[in-house]
Amino acid sequence: MLKVLITGKDGQLAQCVKSISQQHPSLQFIFKSSSELDITNFKSIEAAFSLKQFDYCINCAAYTNVDKAESESALAHKINVTGAKNLAIACHKYNVTLIHVSTDFVFDGTATEPYSEDSATNPLGIYGKTKLEGETEIAKILNNHFIIRTSWLYSEFGNNFLKTMLKFGKEREQISVVSDQVGSPTYAVDLAHVILRLIESKSKSYGLYHYSNKGAISWYEFAGEIFKLSKSPIILNEIESKDYPTKAVRPKYSVLDTIKIENKEKLKILNWKISLETAITNVNRSTKYS
Ligand SMILES: NC(=O)c1ccc[n+]([C@@H]2O[C@H](COP(=O)([O-])OP(=O)(O)OC[C@H]3O[C@@H](n4cnc5c(N)ncnc54)[C@H](OP(=O)(O)O)[C@@H]3O)[C@@H](O)[C@H]2O)c1
Repeated sequence: MLKVLITGKDGQLAQCVKSISQQHPSLQFIFKSSSELDITNFKSIEAAFSLKQFDYCINCAAYTNVDKAESESALAHKINVTGAKNLAIACHKYNVTLIHVSTDFVFDGTATEPYSEDSATNPLGIYGKTKLEGETEIAKILNNHFIIRTSWLYSEFGNNFLKTMLKFGKEREQISVVSDQVGSPTYAVDLAHVILRLIESKSKSYGLYHYSNKGAISWYEFAGEIFKLSKSPIILNEIESKDYPTKAVRPKYSVLDTIKIENKEKLKILNWKISLETAITNVNRSTKYS
């Protein structure tokens, strides 16, 4: 049985992994929260790694507040760079394969076609910069790693755009959403399935991959579909980023080319609309039984 350590237990992606873990009886999962395993503290990592012989580590721990990172750059660096580096060192020492998650925010958004793994990076903000540096550290230290860049994660778990829109759809009369940022919304449960499939297949095709659901839309279109599917009467207004200033500048276009992972792992990736329907069903189910 393969032993899989998951860091950042209480975060969105880790909860998605947990929600499907029973579908993978050949894997033994060990979930650790930030208080149980702080990735910025090498001693904390060493304690966990020396106790059990893990085969894989899925790093779901990260500093993910894109705007706050602009004023908390030291903390973002500590978690996204030092934390990633610490895990890579421990994985190297204990011969563990690391699956690390990164972001479309490593790109500046000036492209007009999907970004491949070879496309030039140029993060616009601290969050993207620290995530990119984390990737670089892992690749320097560890051969047996998978770095998966993904985009616009949402699910029935944690805080995310889908859950915010569903809430606003019930509470507000109208809302304005930007239409000049284009990307691919990705159901985090779909990503969790891909990660566990990589582990079960014992793939040795290490390296950098892009994964998102299929399709390219704006946040405005995404919100529109959420309101349509949830039958919300809310009025949706289209605005530009300049009318909705944020501390961190976001890429205008961050669509990822996913052909490499599709070919290497023989994946059939779902369109964002199909996955959104599943996610909304699951949100409704979890609210009904909570
Ligand atoms: N969300 C998105 O839209 C998106 C898009 C592209 C890529 N990604 C990437 O996808 C990954 C998963 O994102 P997510 O949405 O699941 O993030 P999330 O919900 O914010 O979860 C991050 C988790 O990391 C934990 N954490 C923070 N500092 C830690 C530390 N020092 N040691 C251990 N754990 C720590 C947090 O724990 P506490 O709550 O206890 O602090 C939290 O549970 C991240 O690498 C992120 O960069 C996310």
